[in-house]
Amino acid sequence: MSQPRVLLEIPVEGNNFTTAGEAASRVKRTLQKLGIDSALIRRVSIATYEAEMNIVIHAEYGKIVLQVDAGGVTVLAEDRGKGIPDLNQAMTAGFSTASDRARAMGFGAGMGLPNIKKCTDQLEIDTQVNVGTKVVMKFTYPTTS
Ligand SMILES: Nc1ncnc2c1ncn2[C@@H]1O[C@H](COP(=O)(O)OP(=O)(O)O)[C@@H](O)[C@H]1O
Ligand SMILES: [Mg+2]
Repeated sequence: MSQPRVLLEIPVEGNNFTTAGEAASRVKRTLQKLGIDSALIRRVSIATYEAEMNIVIHAEYGKIVLQVDAGGVTVLAEDRGKGIPDLNQAMTAGFSTASDRARAMGFGAGMGLPNIKKCTDQLEIDTQVNVGTKVVMKFTYPTTS
């Protein structure tokens, strides 16, 4: 397999709802330019948006990294912040610790991580309380037969 190419590395600011979603949009546009399968782009876009919003809503700062290799697309969402004390609980549909401010803007449905799980072919989450969280999302190209 070829070496992964890093195509984008985008900083994401915690609590900044003005720029929220821009990283996911850039990831989407970059993949569209590469002419990648549109169903795959849709999955990547949804998962990346949710991971980006989780940095905005739940962490201090972080970054979104887009990598592409011969087998597919990898998106990394890494942050410094409070981390996730109970990952199983966090993965449960409807569970959310979002602030009142985030809820007032329509966030905090507790569906982000379940959605990420559904959209990815492979998901790894490393998290440490009071340190941060790293979400690795892998998407495999559809096989043509
Ligand atoms: N990057 C993160 N840093 C800290 N906590 C997180 C992060 N991502 C998710 N969480 C925790 O997992 C919970 C569930 O996340 P999610 O399913 O995206 O729902 P929501 O963002 O609507 O709360 C969050 O409420 C939060 O407690
Ligand atoms: Mg979320």
